[in-house]
Amino acid sequence: FMLFSGTSNRSLAEKIAKELRMHLGKVHISRFQSGEIYIHYEESVRNADVYLVQSLFQPVNDHLMETLFMVDAARRASARSVTVVLPYFCYARQEKKDAPREPISAKVVADLLHTVGVDRVITLDLHAPAIQGFFHIPVDHLTALDQITEYLANKEIVNPVVVSPDAGRVKMAEKLASYLDTPFAIMMKRRPVHNEASVTHIIGEVAGRTPIIIEDIIDTGGTIVSVIEGLLEKGAKEAYVCATHAVLSGDGLQKLNHPGIREVLFTDSIPLQPGSTSDRIHVISVA
Ligand code: R5P
Repeated sequence: FMLFSGTSNRSLAEKIAKELRMHLGKVHISRFQSGEIYIHYEESVRNADVYLVQSLFQPVNDHLMETLFMVDAARRASARSVTVVLPYFCYARQEKKDAPREPISAKVVADLLHTVGVDRVITLDLHAPAIQGFFHIPVDHLTALDQITEYLANKEIVNPVVVSPDAGRVKMAEKLASYLDTPFAIMMKRRPVHNEASVTHIIGEVAGRTPIIIEDIIDTGGTIVSVIEGLLEKGAKEAYVCATHAVLSGDGLQKLNHPGIREVLFTDSIPLQPGSTSDRIHVISVA
């Protein structure tokens, strides 16, 4: 098989290649002056099982188009199969209609991947696992939970409680709590407008405890700040925050300087800007 990288997360693709003791394949990816994308495989992919690593974060639509063109080029060059490795799957938060006259954008992304001839999808901690059902090809839905658990198990966290920031994360939180042998709590929230959340109530005991919050995505940071403030109000201590995908739009990274946060753990599904890690912000690799 052959492994190629798109332009979005070459450092992760290189780490995957290293784990597999192989080299990344040569592919030329550039832009015309008009902004249109040009792809050219610089070595034969005939009869190869081609794996493309591409994380679909900002500029999300460019990264998506690049992926589609890479798949199309591989197919037309007689690859035997094409698997897309999408550590961060875009539009996953638009997986259902919350109001009339809205699209189901995650389904459109799945349809586009089918259209160009993808044979298999490998992805990580989908916002909604049911997105697997949008495909009629195999989807390997991986999780970073093992790496997150290992990281936390090596810390001496006093009186911990695993916290699910909303109903969508309950299963993951329950698993983490059982691996770490701690109690867990669930927060209920409302979303008055996009990218804003307010906590309505908390189920479970958090007073005097150290919360370990497990999230899929931190984007603008709005949700995590309201979760932290809700926990502090109930008497919780400084929290450990774990999130698979560091989308970090706008001032998302700055928001993580909140005094109620002790440590933040991300994976490298999306690369952090150089210099963003510190003794408070850590990145573990999912390579
Ligand atoms: C929503 O349900 C997700 O799990 C995240 O909590 C949310 O998308 C994070 O976005 P933001 O950081 O913009 O609040």
